[in-house]
Amino acid sequence: MIRISHLVKTFEGASDVHALKDVSLDINKGDIFGIIGISGAGKSTLVRCLNLLERPTSGSIEVDGVEICNLEGRALREYRHRVAMIFQGFGLLSQKTVLDNVYFPFLASKGTVSPQDRQIAENLLARVGLSSKAEVYPAQLSGGQQQRVAIARALACNPEYILCDEATSALDPASTASILELLKTINKETGVTVIIITHSMDVVREACNNVAVLSHGELVEKGSVEQVFAHPTHEITKQLLGVEDWHE
Ligand SMILES: Nc1ncnc2c1ncn2[C@@H]1O[C@H](COP(=O)(O)OP(=O)(O)OP(=O)(O)O)[C@@H](O)[C@H]1O
Ligand SMILES: [Mg+2]
Repeated sequence: MIRISHLVKTFEGASDVHALKDVSLDINKGDIFGIIGISGAGKSTLVRCLNLLERPTSGSIEVDGVEICNLEGRALREYRHRVAMIFQGFGLLSQKTVLDNVYFPFLASKGTVSPQDRQIAENLLARVGLSSKAEVYPAQLSGGQQQRVAIARALACNPEYILCDEATSALDPASTASILELLKTINKETGVTVIIITHSMDVVREACNNVAVLSHGELVEKGSVEQVFAHPTHEITKQLLGVEDWHE
C-alpha cells in the first residue's frame, strides 16, 4: 500500500507556491483510487511526488513499508519500474511505430529487445485491442487509440501501481468509458493498484472505489465513492458534484 504522511511541496520563487500542504492519505493495494480537484489544486504535483518526478519538501511516502522520498540511483530506477505513469497527451514517441512504443520500456531498461519482449508487447497490444495497428505511427491513431497504446506501454513493465494523470480528459465520452473499462479489467485481472487523477466526478463514479478531494493543496475530503457521493461534506466536493469541469 501507499501511505502518504504530512506531505508538503513548496515551489520556491519570487512568491512561494504551496502546492501541497500537509497531505495524508492511504491508498490500499488493489484499489482504484480517484484524486479529484479543480485546476491548480495540486493533483499533478501529488502524483509527480509519488513517482519522484518531484521531491517533496517534507513529509513521507511509504510504499509497501519502504520510505521512497530519498531513493536514488539503482533503487530509484527499480522503484520507477514498479510505478507506471499514464498522462495527458499520451507521451508517445511520434517517430516510432505503435509496437516500438510498447517496446520502449524494455529498450530503456535493457538496451535491447528479446523475442520474448516482442511477444509480450504484441500480447499487450492485443489486450488493448490494437493488434492491427502495430506498424502504424501514433499520429495515425485517434486519441482513444493513442491512450490505449500508452496503457499497453505502461503495462509492459508489469507495474504494481499505475498513475493516470488526466488520462481521459482529452477523450470523448465513449472513448473515456472504454479506457476506464480497460483499466478496471486490468485491475481485476492483475490486482494492479490504479490511481486516477481527474477533474471529472463522472470518471470517479465510473471507475473508482475510493476518492480524495484536493483543494488549494489541502486534502479536504476522502472516503469511499458511495459515501462521498451520497454525503459530500466540503464545499468543493459539492461544487464538483454539481458542476462538471468547473474551473477556478
Ligand atoms: N514546477 C513548478 N514550479 C512552480 N509552481 C508549480 C510547478 N508545478 C506546479 N506548480 C504550481 O503548483 C500548484 C498545483 O499545480 P498542479 O499542477 O499540481 O495542479 P493540478 O491540480 O494538477 O491542476 P490541473 O487540474 O490544472 O492539472 C499550481 O499553483 C501550480 O501553478
Ligand atoms: Mg494536473
